[in-house]
Amino acid sequence: MTTRRDFLSHSAAAAVAFGLPRTARAVAPQFHELKARPAAVQLAPPSYPKTEIWGYDGVMPGPELRISQGERVQRRFLNELPQASSVHWHGIRIDNAMDGVAGLTQAGVEPGESFDYDFVAPDAGTYWYHAHNRSVEQVARGLYGALIVEEAEAPDVDREEVLILDDWLLDPETAQIDPDFTSRHDRSHAGRRGNFIATNGKYDLALDVRQNERLRLRLINAANARIFVLSLAGMEGWTIALDGMPLGAAKPLDDVLILGPGQRADLIVDVTAEPGETAHLLRSDDQEDMSQVAFPVSGQALASRRVPPAALPRNPKMEVSGLESAVSVRLNMQGGAMGTLDAATLNGVRKTFRQLVEANEFWAFNGAIGMTETPLADVAAGQTVKLEIYNDTSFPHAMHLHGLHFREIGQDGTFGPLRDTLLMFGGETRTIGFVADNPGDWLFHCHMLSHAASGMMTWVRVT
Ligand code: C2O
Ligand code: CU
Repeated sequence: MTTRRDFLSHSAAAAVAFGLPRTARAVAPQFHELKARPAAVQLAPPSYPKTEIWGYDGVMPGPELRISQGERVQRRFLNELPQASSVHWHGIRIDNAMDGVAGLTQAGVEPGESFDYDFVAPDAGTYWYHAHNRSVEQVARGLYGALIVEEAEAPDVDREEVLILDDWLLDPETAQIDPDFTSRHDRSHAGRRGNFIATNGKYDLALDVRQNERLRLRLINAANARIFVLSLAGMEGWTIALDGMPLGAAKPLDDVLILGPGQRADLIVDVTAEPGETAHLLRSDDQEDMSQVAFPVSGQALASRRVPPAALPRNPKMEVSGLESAVSVRLNMQGGAMGTLDAATLNGVRKTFRQLVEANEFWAFNGAIGMTETPLADVAAGQTVKLEIYNDTSFPHAMHLHGLHFREIGQDGTFGPLRDTLLMFGGETRTIGFVADNPGDWLFHCHMLSHAASGMMTWVRVT
């Protein structure tokens, strides 16, 4: 595959050939800026100092980008960080050149440089954008935000809240971000898990509600590795979409909702708690339920709707068909602590597990660590792909496919919901199917970002 150096020399050569300045300065007026820069925010309680973060436009989460289905997004990304960066629009069926994967779909944008993102969002839903160069560090430092694509006709709710869940690894004294992003332990175990949990950058987020108010909650798990196990108290709820894609019918949320890193869920909730009480979005932590977001109930109750919400309209052309003639691909995931990996290739060279540990590389896909010259699958546009994944490790992984949504295919052949990120537990074998209708080089990786950084990354080519 093309290396970062190739990209840089290509773009430099192109600039010379066309006599262009390195960064185009003729600013098209419609390109709003999105600037990644260091900033300080009050993450921890007020008795602590502010936390130095990296944020889009200096805020965390970054500015909410909200458009209508089918609308065009045009953003000039400016990098004011001390290292190269890029922006990935997670979950969008996007033009490959705009996918924002440094080293695969574009060169990393160097400090002081810019890149123009310009794409159309064909599907309504809850998405997010985040840094995609050295993601384990850049996402952990705060480089993410919500990207909301509204349906032509909004569902019947009283209001909507976007809730971005994250955990931060902070020094307990200074409240500063732990700068060890290559921790051997995090890489070889469950990833970088934080000690400080927040929603929209607030550890004590409280949203005032009325009894019987109907809310749409758009949940986004932006954590590096944490799996959120969520439930409701004082609210009755339904899941209406997963990873941006509507479910056929609203599904009552009477148990827990499990959200792996990168995953999203849209809920509709009715507040049942009474004035003076507090409803909660709960997170279960070591069997204990903690409040993730509080919803204090006050004022006059609204009239109860009494009926479950209607399903959202489907997004266009997303059927998984042609399985009879699908290309079958197998992915074996191995490695990590307490795993079965004896040896694997790293940059084409065979290494023993001990050597891999020394190199701080831990995870193999089909016997290879990290990106390989040849893709996991190389298919013609329109081809249906059936991908069987075996998690032969002791840890869960959140496998994210760029640019394409898939459905899980059950043992009995039934389809699961459309998703872009599949959470898999240790020992599981799961099969997904998708129609490779979007040409380009698409990354497929674990969204536990320490895992991606230490081997769990491959790609699919659609031509
Ligand atoms: Cu949300 Cu490859 O990323
Ligand atoms: Cu993983």
